[in-house]
Amino acid sequence: MTLVTAALIVLAVVGSNAFQFWDPAEEFPQLNTYFDNNYIGQSFETLQEKHPDLVKISSLGKTPGDNDIHEITITSDVSNWQTANKPSVKYVANMHGNEVRGRGLLLKFAYYLAMSYESDQDVRDIMATTVFHLLPTINPDGFATATKSCSGVDGRYTSDGTDMNRDFPSSWQSGTRLKFANETKMLMNYATRVPAVLGISFHDGALVTNYPWDGVPDILSGKYAASPDDALFITMAKTYSLNHKSMSKRAAQCGQDDFKDGITNGNKWYKVFNGMQDWNYMYNDCFEVTIELGCCKYPSDAADTFGKVWSDNFNSILKFSKLANSGVKGRATDYFGNPLTDVTITVSGINKTTKVRHPEGYYWRPLLGGTYNISASKHGYYTLARKSIVVREEEPTQIDFILIPKSQVRARKRRRRRKRSV
Ligand SMILES: *[C@@H]1O[C@H](CO)[C@@H](O)[C@H](O)[C@H]1NC(C)=O
Ligand SMILES: *[C@@H]1O[C@H](CO)[C@@H](O)[C@H](O)[C@H]1NC(C)=O
Ligand SMILES: *[C@@H]1O[C@H](CO)[C@@H](O)[C@H](O)[C@H]1NC(C)=O
Ligand SMILES: [Zn+2]
Repeated sequence: MTLVTAALIVLAVVGSNAFQFWDPAEEFPQLNTYFDNNYIGQSFETLQEKHPDLVKISSLGKTPGDNDIHEITITSDVSNWQTANKPSVKYVANMHGNEVRGRGLLLKFAYYLAMSYESDQDVRDIMATTVFHLLPTINPDGFATATKSCSGVDGRYTSDGTDMNRDFPSSWQSGTRLKFANETKMLMNYATRVPAVLGISFHDGALVTNYPWDGVPDILSGKYAASPDDALFITMAKTYSLNHKSMSKRAAQCGQDDFKDGITNGNKWYKVFNGMQDWNYMYNDCFEVTIELGCCKYPSDAADTFGKVWSDNFNSILKFSKLANSGVKGRATDYFGNPLTDVTITVSGINKTTKVRHPEGYYWRPLLGGTYNISASKHGYYTLARKSIVVREEEPTQIDFILIPKSQVRARKRRRRRKRSV
């Protein structure tokens, strides 16, 4: 590779435009403390009151410890987000209750998006093209019992003792008896209700971006287990790590870790079965990575921890979000323009299909730049193939599919035959 090519690749990943940095804790100092679950709920309510056009809040339900799993949806014209032609991204944190950085990161991110909207054109642009779903904690019961400690498992599990990141279904592990903690079930229902194109699950205990597969049975732990979208996942992971202040630097990584470019394949690091990341990719077509934000899981100094996690990750999280609009996108309809869902999108050379899940028939299929054959198929309809579709890095290529039902064509042929025989 020449130096010029290398520089161009780095530029493509790191990007050129700059979002304007500011820390919401300057205005809301409590964001730099170890706030509790109620504070997340109250903050979300305040943001919704102040920005009803941008913010819609919900709860996934009550945990056995009687905590809500708070969710915030942020986008321009939020009341129409479900039918809008925009991809959703879903970022969750604190699945292991004693891994705390993502709580501060995602709550600040919610403030940042809602409060920068007026003043920052880049924020308006990304909110015009992306729906953000942020869940600062998906294991509030665990956090409530966690103690400040760099390692250990106090607060890691849900209140019924489940490790949520070993509690999701996998076609490879059908024999495994999973508990399906209430929290896991809520997340599974939520994934169906809110189909996301990209996802992140934030953890602590290392500094690295981890991508699928996390666990393939035939491949030993410590060996690389490439997913069908391996090249894309590497680019996604680097988009995060190279835009992070220090993730790609060996000196900032933890202990003996030496993650080149600050990324790792999951199975190559250590095997995890029934994790959420693989489940989201396999079953929900959500391109999800697992991001470890820091070495110490629950540091003693909240202000230092949440101050640093925001300045370190601010650029990464925004640049990563832009990947929801990459590759191909478009709409599947019938001949009359009625939206079709449950349409399977197949890309030549990639053994991973995705489904049209948006109620209006919109789809997004992240892809690296290149030339692809892409087809759309649905039971009862003729498969439609589009050849030699050129995808560029800068913006998604629009490919719409108008599918013809087999029954309609047969009926027309029958009618024609009848006419001729008269
Ligand atoms: C947790 O799940 C169990 C089994 O599905 C259910 O009986 C129980 O009511 C749930 N707990 C809460 C707090 O929702
Ligand atoms: C494609 O993936 C499926 C699982 O989704 C697998 O069963 C099949 O063997 C794969 N095909 C190839 C050619 O790798
Ligand atoms: C696309 O299809 C054409 C013709 O069917 C084939 O020659 C070509 O190799 C395919 N391209 C890719 C990228 O698979
Ligand atoms: Zn974890």
